[in-house]
Amino acid sequence: MLYKLEKVSKIYKNFDTENHALNKIDLEINEGEIVVILGPSGSGKSTMLNILSGIDNPTKGKVYFNNERIDKLKEKELTNYRKDNLGFIFQSYNLVPNLTIKENIELGRELSKNPLDLKEIVKEVGLISHMNKYPYGLSGGQMQRVAIARALVKNPKVLFCDEPTGALDEKTGKNVLKLLQDINKKYNTTMIIVTHNPSIANMANTVIKMNSGEIKEIIKNKTIMDAEDLRWA
Ligand SMILES: Nc1ncnc2c1ncn2[C@@H]1O[C@H](COP(=O)(O)OP(=O)(O)O)[C@@H](O)[C@H]1O
Ligand SMILES: [Mg+2]
Repeated sequence: MLYKLEKVSKIYKNFDTENHALNKIDLEINEGEIVVILGPSGSGKSTMLNILSGIDNPTKGKVYFNNERIDKLKEKELTNYRKDNLGFIFQSYNLVPNLTIKENIELGRELSKNPLDLKEIVKEVGLISHMNKYPYGLSGGQMQRVAIARALVKNPKVLFCDEPTGALDEKTGKNVLKLLQDINKKYNTTMIIVTHNPSIANMANTVIKMNSGEIKEIIKNKTIMDAEDLRWA
């Protein structure tokens, strides 16, 4: 088991009211899984990502990564946990505009003890012919591929994806999801994908449905759809 959460709560205090962004969450995530977290705005999805990725600490409860508590780590130890194990991609691509595609991806290698071969990854994401260009002029889908390559070249155990297709049209979005699926198969990278697009749940091993800071349902899909065959709802 890669992650285990025991009675995890995140409570924001606001004068005399308490907002339970997460309310006594119990959860287990296995290595190599694609996990999709679904839920309406405000349901606690980002808070969940922040706690799993050590960006934020829970108010109560325990968070284990590879059987070790991460909810009590010091800032420096948390930084190392993220640096050694995690990659991130977001709805916005966060590329450095005055660096080439190759240089942007190299930034990911510099953060890693055990990076993958840059050229292999650039090939994997289909950007070999764009390697020496600047982000300016690339399409949204291509920029997201650069962001994925930058995260992947670190050789992370876990890739956190917050609305990875939120800014893309259906066809481009599915291409990006196909890439994530291929990476999951090839490198056994655990993927934790937050989205409000329920179609994406069909490519997950596990779907976590959240509402009001609680897990309402956990679905283990018996059949996993190829990303190419998804249909946007
Ligand atoms: N830094 C914060 N301070 C106070 N309340 C917050 C903070 N971050 C999130 N919340 C509240 O926690 C709840 C869950 O938020 P969030 O995890 O961002 O939901 P989602 O990502 O599903 O939209 C919301 O009610 C939100 O207003
Ligand atoms: Mg959010």
